[in-house]
Amino acid sequence: MEDKDLIEYARKARELAYAPYSRFQVGAALLGKSGRVYTGCNVESASFPAGTCAERCAVGKAVSEGETEFAAIAVVCDSEGPCVPCGICRQVLCEFNSDMRVIMTNLKGDILVRTAGELLPWAFTGKDLPVT
Ligand code: THU
Repeated sequence: MEDKDLIEYARKARELAYAPYSRFQVGAALLGKSGRVYTGCNVESASFPAGTCAERCAVGKAVSEGETEFAAIAVVCDSEGPCVPCGICRQVLCEFNSDMRVIMTNLKGDILVRTAGELLPWAFTGKDLPVT
């Protein structure tokens, strides 16, 4: 799938964002190695820390449907520059594939592409945990 198509999925998902508190809508589209696309949007809560980012919404949908290998994720929001994932989302993306391409964009069409590992150097991983 071409980046522009994945971006289009993310733009559509953004329109479904539940963001009554920040009014800041974010959309994501995660491309599984199977070729399937899993979309996500941010889902906020009156208990603010209970809210979830668009990227983790997409990852949760994919994993719960049996897919854990990902090639790319597109993220879009109405930001000045390309929409960059937060630190927690970077950690979650690296959990699955630090080589995953992260396609960051905004409504103006600015695009920045990096790998998840480039966005989170020296990530804490399962290898850092003692063997149980
Ligand atoms: N948000 C995301 O969905 N993804 C990010 O990577 C950054 C932030 C959401 C969380 C919250 O609902 C709103 O954007 C404002 O922070």
